[in-house]
Amino acid sequence: MQPNLDAFWMPFTANRDFKQAPRLLSKAKDMHYWTPEGREVLDATAGLWCVNAGHGRPRIVEAIARQAAEMDFAPPFQMGHPLAFELADRLQHLTPPGLNRFFFTNSGSESVETAMKIALAYHRVRGEAQRTRLIGRERGYHGVNFAGTALGGMGPNRKLFGSSVAGVDHLRHTHDLTRNAFTRGQPEHGAELADDLERLVTLHDASTIAAVIVEPMAGSTGVLLPPKGYLERLRAICDKHGILLVFDEVITGFGRLGAPFAAQKYGVVPDMITMAKGITNGTIPMGAVAVRQEIHDTFMQASGPGIELPHGYTYSGHPMACAAALATLDTYAEEDLLTRGTRLHGALEETVHGLRDLPHVVDIRNTGLVAAIEFAPRAGAAPGRRAFEVFLGCFEAGVLVRAAGDNIAIAPPLIVSESQLAQVADTLRRVMSQLT
Ligand SMILES: Cc1ncc(COP(=O)(O)O)c(C=O)c1O
Repeated sequence: MQPNLDAFWMPFTANRDFKQAPRLLSKAKDMHYWTPEGREVLDATAGLWCVNAGHGRPRIVEAIARQAAEMDFAPPFQMGHPLAFELADRLQHLTPPGLNRFFFTNSGSESVETAMKIALAYHRVRGEAQRTRLIGRERGYHGVNFAGTALGGMGPNRKLFGSSVAGVDHLRHTHDLTRNAFTRGQPEHGAELADDLERLVTLHDASTIAAVIVEPMAGSTGVLLPPKGYLERLRAICDKHGILLVFDEVITGFGRLGAPFAAQKYGVVPDMITMAKGITNGTIPMGAVAVRQEIHDTFMQASGPGIELPHGYTYSGHPMACAAALATLDTYAEEDLLTRGTRLHGALEETVHGLRDLPHVVDIRNTGLVAAIEFAPRAGAAPGRRAFEVFLGCFEAGVLVRAAGDNIAIAPPLIVSESQLAQVADTLRRVMSQLT
């Protein structure tokens, strides 16, 4: 029997439409979901970019159950429990060398807020308290808390909430269909867009800027890959002006691009990495910020006595989340999942670029185990209608893809097979052929 749908105000959902025609999922295993009626749906979105090892993995399920029975909760302020230390120690072998201190949160949004607060406090502790300005980028998504909303670059997510955080500015985005449409991997053109940071330095003065945050690959606005040389240039400009560079790897972390993090994939090391989602394979909410040791050590050396960073959450390093994360990292390691994207990259690339001839397609792009198909907006309709119709059609046809503006994003669990990738492409072809 279907529950009463009225009381739950659903997140990022057209509630009125949804409740007229609900789309419910009630069971999941490996690459599939099932609806309450028992209809099988192939998961081509890893849930919401988070179930990187596939659903219901026994090692993770058992670790969570064991930890729930052993110790459900331990206070994280002025107390500790072994798993949080073990997890931080394990994570430092996955992040680039030097990014080896970890602050635990419960979500990507909290990781972003935490990183921004660390950036502000770091400059203050070093005696540069005037560095308070934070820079984001158009078409970025950094979650929904105040700093993330202010730094994000998606108009609809910002306009209801006023100016939220003062002193925020934005770089231009790098998405350029006139020069880069149908690129496989990193676009050729656009490295010079990093120079936008020099423009903001000229405008505001470097001495006022604390940090720049970018998604190395923008996920939520439709899989926008960094142009060749762009991230390198951003890193160089940050270094020149003493500005911290933060990579928001909430989506790109844990193997999506074929390397543990985008920082390794692109060979550019930021000062902090925000992560969440794949850290527990989506099972228990958790996020983290990886911090360059020198930043951490500055707090340890230069803060007054007592608490060095007055920040944290009741559930920072929650025992069940830590147990889930440790079992997740074991699963990734045993099955070599964090680099599987490099091996399946070609198969995904061939299948998605094979859809180029279909109506209204204006771009297809891909890397690792992520791809997007972009549609021309329908004249006179709200933006994103075509992509949303493709999402609905695919769901009816048994494949879950994600609509992101005018784009369909494909980001399956990293255990996906080549035949499942072909099923995704076949379903898309059938649905997209009908698109008006
Ligand atoms: C890059 C990025 N940052 C932050 C977030 C926010 O994460 P959460 O929804 O866990 O708060 C997301 C979520 O999709 C994201 O993609």
